[in-house]
Amino acid sequence: MSRFYVTTPIYYVNDEPHIGHAYTTVLADVLARFHRALGDKTYFLTGTDEHGQKVQQAAEKRGVDPQQHVDEYVLRFQEKWDALDIRYDQFIRTTQANHKAVVRHLLQLLWDKGLIYKDTYEGWYSVAEERFLTDKEYEEGDWRDVKQLSETNYWFKMSAYQEKLINYIHDNPDFIQPEFRKNEVLGFLRQELGDLCISRPKSRLSWGIELPFDSEYVTYVWFDALTNYISAIGYPDRDEEFKTWWPADVHLIGKDILTTHAVYWPTMLMAADLPLPKTIFAHGWWLMGDTKMSKSLGNVIRPLDLANEYGVDALRYFLMREMTPGQDASFSIEAFIGRYNSDLANDLGNLVNRITKLLGRNFDSILPDPGETSPEDADLIQHVNGLQERVRDELDQLKVNYAITHVFDVLREINRYLEETAPWKLLKTDKDRAGAVLYNAAEALRLSAVHLYPVMPDKIARLLEVMGTSAKARFGEPGWFEWGHVKSGTTLGQIDGLFPRIEVKEAPEETSVKLDLKPEISFDDFTKLDIRIVKIIKAEKHPNADKLLKLQVDLGAEQRQVIAGIADFYAPEDLVGKSVSIIANLKPAKIRGEISQGMILAAEDDVTVAPLTPLKDVKPGSKVR
Ligand code: MSP
Repeated sequence: MSRFYVTTPIYYVNDEPHIGHAYTTVLADVLARFHRALGDKTYFLTGTDEHGQKVQQAAEKRGVDPQQHVDEYVLRFQEKWDALDIRYDQFIRTTQANHKAVVRHLLQLLWDKGLIYKDTYEGWYSVAEERFLTDKEYEEGDWRDVKQLSETNYWFKMSAYQEKLINYIHDNPDFIQPEFRKNEVLGFLRQELGDLCISRPKSRLSWGIELPFDSEYVTYVWFDALTNYISAIGYPDRDEEFKTWWPADVHLIGKDILTTHAVYWPTMLMAADLPLPKTIFAHGWWLMGDTKMSKSLGNVIRPLDLANEYGVDALRYFLMREMTPGQDASFSIEAFIGRYNSDLANDLGNLVNRITKLLGRNFDSILPDPGETSPEDADLIQHVNGLQERVRDELDQLKVNYAITHVFDVLREINRYLEETAPWKLLKTDKDRAGAVLYNAAEALRLSAVHLYPVMPDKIARLLEVMGTSAKARFGEPGWFEWGHVKSGTTLGQIDGLFPRIEVKEAPEETSVKLDLKPEISFDDFTKLDIRIVKIIKAEKHPNADKLLKLQVDLGAEQRQVIAGIADFYAPEDLVGKSVSIIANLKPAKIRGEISQGMILAAEDDVTVAPLTPLKDVKPGSKVR
């Protein structure tokens, strides 16, 4: 039996829970449920980040005490997670007494080791942003309300760990995932790493954890927040519990909090002589054209409201199926309905109906005898038996969307098996064989559904009961993942409308716009274009034009520079590692003083510009025809 400790970021308690928070939390829940079902010792931690300036101000604005404010606001997260069927082991709050004690312990430890020092910093301070600006920021930005400020603070000697961290990242390839995020962190670490200011004077901020060695200061929110991952599981007093869980198997985070997790946190742990988490996984962002979304479905304004309308499981399914972890995904109601109807209502729902109805009508819902295994039965059984390993492999790499795809491949396989064997015909000629076929189909369906349980716990638990496993089995039991777990003679149930189809009301017809095509060309003309797939290895702003990005791309045999007019739509760091297509034999040109050796192909509408990327990974330099 292995063990599995998964965490989400602790969310700013002031924020209203939204799709971004829900995604990470559902992802953690799915991983935790899967590991629990496999019998692994599992711990799933989530919670809220409750200190800092914003909370203090929000409480002041409401005229309440900050503690009262966070006690009220935290309920929004807890209620939302209950509603989304999130089964965490602990919901930690940074205002909890035990957490505060651990943060103070850690600060004291580093202070005693001489790893924290006091120093006065003088520089440009933005009153609006409540932070010091670097000289570069000050020179480049258009700041209002900036003043020279000199402030004495406490600093953690983070710089002392720069080399050690770089070596650690190189030696532990799974430490930061996906790979391109690891490279981003290594890029960041190529510059000199400074020390980390870990205090705020109480004159500026009082809603925080007081430094154990100076009561005039509270600690910096990130020092406080990151410590939750160990304070929750018993560090330093409950040593046995702590050692059971630490180091975490995976910290799930969004890409915007990569530096705090992959640089600050590891150096803090190194300073405290603690092991580092095994994996920090940074997922991408959910993007949405929300004006479009609310227009097309009047009553749904926020994605999380879809759970009220179409069920929690459908929303969980969509979030898990639609995003390739690591990359951005876009949310639209059309995509949601499309997925729901094609996967849940059609592929899964119809199969369930087909099997349970045939068994109900012809075998009184009593599971028949599997009889002798024919070659086509053996094929199906083999396919289903391999599912657990395929799903596990994907989940080990956090690719829940691919894991789901494997399950749906098997569901389609079962459908094919039914088409081939046609039990509805066999019923008239060979009822025993018809029964055997239906046993195999039902057991294959049950075993596939088991793999969907972590994603859709409510509906699948109901389905599993219909398919002959006890309610208890939904928490996983020996044999759950084995072929033949449900024996012939078991009475199955009936289930109607597991995922009823969403009927889309016809949108009023749009006035058709004629395609404005260019004049026809010959095939020879077309072959003159040399279109290739390239991988973006570096991306930066064009020095002389706001709308342009300067990209270095890998064509396999060579590297080139290409200028692209997509700066309004993409941050340079989001492009690195992506594959896109370019016209590679376009005559090079200078664009605002920078050479461009090719042109990126991109689709464009009135909302955005989307570079064309291949559906599967192909080598840089691959031809596009
Ligand atoms: N409190 C800090 C985390 C401290 S962890 C020790 C924090 N909180 S947050 O509430 O602002 O964000 C939490 C997470 O939500 C981040 O990982 C962030 O990436 C994620 N998301 C916020 N908006 C998002 C999307 N639109 N899409 C996906 N996730 C995004 O940062």
